[in-house]
Amino acid sequence: MRFKTLAIHAGQEPDPAYGAVMTPIYQTSTFAFKGVGQPGPFDYSRSGNPTRKALEQCIAALEAGSHGFVFGTGMAAETTVLMMYNAGDHLIIHDDLYGGTYRLLVNVVAPKNIAVDFVNLRDADALRKAIRPNTKAIWLETPTNPLMNLIDLEAVAAVAKEKKLTTICDNTFLSPYFLQPIKFGIDVVVHSTTKYINGHSDVVGGAVVVNDPALAERIGFLQNAIGTCAGPQDCFLVLRGLKTLAVRMEEHNRNALGIARWLEKHPKIATVLHPGLESHPQHALAKRQLKGYGGTFSFRVCGGQDEAFRLLGNVKVFTLAESLGGVESLIEHPFTMTHVSVPEDARRKMGITEDLIRISVGIEDLEDLIADLEQALGKI
Ligand SMILES: Cc1ncc(COP(=O)(O)O)c(C=O)c1O
Repeated sequence: MRFKTLAIHAGQEPDPAYGAVMTPIYQTSTFAFKGVGQPGPFDYSRSGNPTRKALEQCIAALEAGSHGFVFGTGMAAETTVLMMYNAGDHLIIHDDLYGGTYRLLVNVVAPKNIAVDFVNLRDADALRKAIRPNTKAIWLETPTNPLMNLIDLEAVAAVAKEKKLTTICDNTFLSPYFLQPIKFGIDVVVHSTTKYINGHSDVVGGAVVVNDPALAERIGFLQNAIGTCAGPQDCFLVLRGLKTLAVRMEEHNRNALGIARWLEKHPKIATVLHPGLESHPQHALAKRQLKGYGGTFSFRVCGGQDEAFRLLGNVKVFTLAESLGGVESLIEHPFTMTHVSVPEDARRKMGITEDLIRISVGIEDLEDLIADLEQALGKI
């Protein structure tokens, strides 16, 4: 079956109890045994729950994987994956990524004696040079948050296969509608389902998808052992959001590209970082590996913090808020908001400076969004 059909039907047979067409919210912590030593298909909701199972199967199908797991937050998903590694292991991390992931790696994982190396994975030589005998995994996101740099997944996966390393890709920005990393050889896909997968800014959640039974067993074990799973109410909402992922992503993509093209011509804008623009240095890679560019991108205003803050303070349709991927348009300042957990020198080295603005373009009318940015830029 194809993507839109899977989004509506994968893991979502009518409920066996009463034939409910929408997967019910099994709001229960525990399940009755049929008799002593005879559990049913579920025994305790940390270990498994029918609402969660439906969502896990649906996400796995959409990511072209064999097994899916969902978590209380995107960070819970990331933490669970990172618990596969032990003291003495070495991880290679792309040097440009979401601030919360950076904080988790530097402040939680590294102090446990797991070596964490930030490397520019756009440079194949740098990747090869960083590999040590104790290297276990490569972690990346593409496009990166908020700088919109792309990584050639096939190139990284080829090196990883040769060196027997696990590749982990955070696919939050594009969602499986525009990129299925497993098809390019990635082993583990991670999501903040808080973003496009749920799409309505009313849930925080995370997901992991793999295509290998041994990895699935390990992640499933850790999800239960650590207890990072999502609750049934949230799974129901994410499942409902997921049904419209394809139509939402088309609109996000169309609106974001329309705004990016408009901003590129605006005299108060210095640079637009959007992989769908011919001016993006990796536009050819974007066309080769991505089916679309998503709805989130960044740009630099001419000037610095004062100009950026004037824009942020004058928008009316865009909401000044962190997060992304919802139906409503959001605008934020990575230097003082989403990426403040990255130390200032590291932020500057990455290119996250005061002039940078990130927008998550919603599915409102494009003309209204452009008019809003135009009036706010007029106040600079
Ligand atoms: C790319 C990316 N990965 C992971 C996360 C963390 O997800 P959550 O906030 O659901 O824990 C975020 C949150 O902004 C993100 O943007």
